[in-house]
Formats: sequence, C-alpha cells, structure tokens
Amino acid sequence: MSNVNVVLGAFYGDEGKGKVIDYLSKDAKYAVRFSGGNNAGHSIEVDGKKFAFHLLPSGILNKNIKAILGNGVVIDPKVLLEEISNLKANGYKVDNLFISEKAHVILPYHIIFDGLLEEVRGSKKIGTTKRGIGPAYCDKFERSGIRMEDFIVPSKFKELLKINVANKNVILKAYKYPKLRFMEIYKEYKQYAKDIKKYVCDTTTMLHNAIKKNENILCEGAQATLLDIDFGSYPFVTSSNPTIGGVMTGSGIGARYITEVYGVIKAYSSRVGEGPFVTEQINEIGNTIRELGHEYGTTTKRPRRCGWLDIVALNYAIMVNGLTGIALNHLDTIGKLDKIKLCVAYKYKGKETKNFRTNLDFLNNCEAVYEDFEGNFGDISNCKTFEELPEKAKKYVNRIEELTNTPVKFIGTGAGRENIIVR
Ligand code: IMO
Ligand code: MG
Repeated sequence: MSNVNVVLGAFYGDEGKGKVIDYLSKDAKYAVRFSGGNNAGHSIEVDGKKFAFHLLPSGILNKNIKAILGNGVVIDPKVLLEEISNLKANGYKVDNLFISEKAHVILPYHIIFDGLLEEVRGSKKIGTTKRGIGPAYCDKFERSGIRMEDFIVPSKFKELLKINVANKNVILKAYKYPKLRFMEIYKEYKQYAKDIKKYVCDTTTMLHNAIKKNENILCEGAQATLLDIDFGSYPFVTSSNPTIGGVMTGSGIGARYITEVYGVIKAYSSRVGEGPFVTEQINEIGNTIRELGHEYGTTTKRPRRCGWLDIVALNYAIMVNGLTGIALNHLDTIGKLDKIKLCVAYKYKGKETKNFRTNLDFLNNCEAVYEDFEGNFGDISNCKTFEELPEKAKKYVNRIEELTNTPVKFIGTGAGRENIIVR
C-alpha cells in the first residue's frame, strides 16, 4: 500500500508546516501542493541555507521527489519563475517539477482587483496578502479563469486574455482605475508561458500511477483550517479549501487513498490579517511571544497577532479534517515564558462551551477559559525523545493530548530541521 500523508494547518496559518513537511518528505516520492497560491510562506533551512517558498512544494528540495502543483492551486507565473530561478541559482536543476494542466493562472488584473476590493471594503477589510488569490479563484468559479493548458497555447491564451481584459476594464473604469493594456500583458505573459510549458502535464494520472506503484505521496497544506472558505471565520478567510476536502478536489487523489492527516499547531497561536481570535493577547504577553517566536510574516512581513493555544479551536480542526495526529511546534518558545495558559473552553453569554463555531458574533463575544501551566522549561533543543523533555514540558503536551484525544506525533524543539521529536 502506498502512503498518502497530508499536512494541514490547524489554526490561522504559519504553524510551521514546513518543518513537518521537511521531515516527512524524506520518505516521499511525491510532494503535492493542492490549494492556495503564493499567499503561503514556508521556510526551510537546508545545509545552512534558508529557502522561503510561497508557491512551490517545499519537498522540491529533495531531489528524489517529484514536486507537483495540483489543479487546486492558483499560479502566478512570475512568482513561479522567480522561485525556479532561485533554486537554479542554488544548484538545483528543477527537473522534478510538474504542474497540473488544470491549475489556474494569476494575472496582473487579479492582483489589482485584490487591492481594489480591499479598498472598497474600507474598515471591513480582510487583510489579504494582495497576491491576487481571491480574484483568481473568483474567475475560476465564475468560469472565466485561464487554465495552464490554455495559458501555454499562445492563440488560446490570447483569445481568453482579450475577453478578460475587456471585461475587467469595464469595472476598472467604474472605479476610476487605470485601464489594462491587453498587448502589454499578452507579450509579457506569453514569454512566461513559454518558459513554464515544459512543466505542465496531467498530474492527476501521474499521482494515480504512483498510488498503483505503492509510492509515498506527501500533500503539503498551505494556509489553515480557520482560514478555510467554508470552515474558517468567514469572511476573514482565504478563497480556497485548505482543509482535507481540498486535498481531493485540488489533486484528484480519492479519499480512500489517504493514510495519515497531520494537523500542525504551535504551542501558542498567531494570526495575520483581520478577523476574530479568541485567545489573542494584545499586551506584553502577546508582544513577548511575537519576539520569542519571530512572529513576522514570511510573505508580507506583517507582525503577527499572538496569543495562547486554543483547544476549542483545535478540536474543531480535528473534527473537520479527521486529524490522525498533531504536530506541535515551538514548544521551546512557549517554554521560555514563566507561566503558560491553555484555553480549554469558551464562555459565551455567561455560559461555558467547548463547541467551536465560526459565527462572527459568537467568536467576537467569546471569552477564553484557561488552565495554567508552569513555564521555564530550560533548553529543550537537544531533547531527542519525549522522555528526555523536562516534566513541565511533558505535562503541557500530555494535557493537549488528553483534551483532544489525539496523539502529538511531532514536537518542534527549536528552529533547526534537526530540532524535532518524532513519536
Ligand atoms: P501559510 O501557508 C497566514 C491570510 C491573510 C488574510 C487571509 C486572506 O504561510 O500558513 P488571501 O491573500 O489568502 O486572500 O488572504 O488569509 N493568509 C494567511 N495567513 N499564513 C498563510 O499561509 C496565509 N495565507 C493567507 O493574512 O488574513
Ligand atoms: Mg504564512
């Protein structure tokens, strides 16, 4: 039997998915991105070099892996080519990249519209990454998007682009935005398409052949459960399904082939962009966590909002994704605080509840109910097994398992790729 392992974010993104992906990619033959685009930011350190990926699957650093951008991904050709040339400059051949012919292309007007729509929202803005993600998915579902298979055929691309540019110009005019110049975009992007063409293929059949040959597949989630268009804190979400369903619709791998589903969390929580965050600490504690955990965006450099770990939200992520295990990052970071709090329930209108709901009125009016833990774990970066961890750290991890009824399979004990405990 082949193994199809899935790594998903459990909260609001930036949980350190890259670290678990890096570990699991050792045994994988395929690394697959299935949703989102270059709104993601996954950093990995290899041989002292730091790589920040936004679009490519980070498994691509393993030369024995075939890296796939599945049909569910939206691709900015410019960013893609930049990431490819950065890898080439670092000695990678990048002959192990395969892009779904069904994946949609992010074009300049998507990026313009991302900014325009945020402007229109005013005080109700989402705080998007302004990478054109939402508008590209809008076109996909509205059925005017341009797929890779058409992008790489100049005559088809030209025809589709012409219609799109004309339509977008009508809207841009209404907002008094500058007009798009069709020929300029066409000429620039036709060249990108030429460079990308060799990577475009039928990745769904490829993955099924891999399953038939019992080869291991690693599905690399971007974004996270609470940013999911359906299951997240709508409208403060991204425009795709970073939850388990997105693996199937975004890669073509059927549900029956999926083996393990790991949800990644930090020993605390963070969020970038707007939207509710029940355990947020807008105080010295939040600031301390931000500095200790270097919580500044990989994609947009924005300072992240920080707070305590939320078991109510975690149990929701376990429920909607069917998580089989938890990867807990930054145990070392939280262990630097004197006192740690863990949110075990919410109080809503005076009543305690353990049921997470994404309803904004609910989330904005919930108060967290905490349990207290001792911090000051000391240096845990050299602990190779769970048993080696100090009692205070074990107590915190054990309580997370108890409250979620889910095993903590990976523990991040430091920034390096070797600082990981696997159970
Ligand atoms: P990784 O993979 C954290 C957030 C944005 C914004 C909302 C919508 O690094 O965990 P979008 O540009 O997607 O339309 O923005 O979603 N967001 C992320 N936050 N990590 C990410 O990815 C994110 N991708 C999107 O900040 O609030
Ligand atoms: Mg991020």
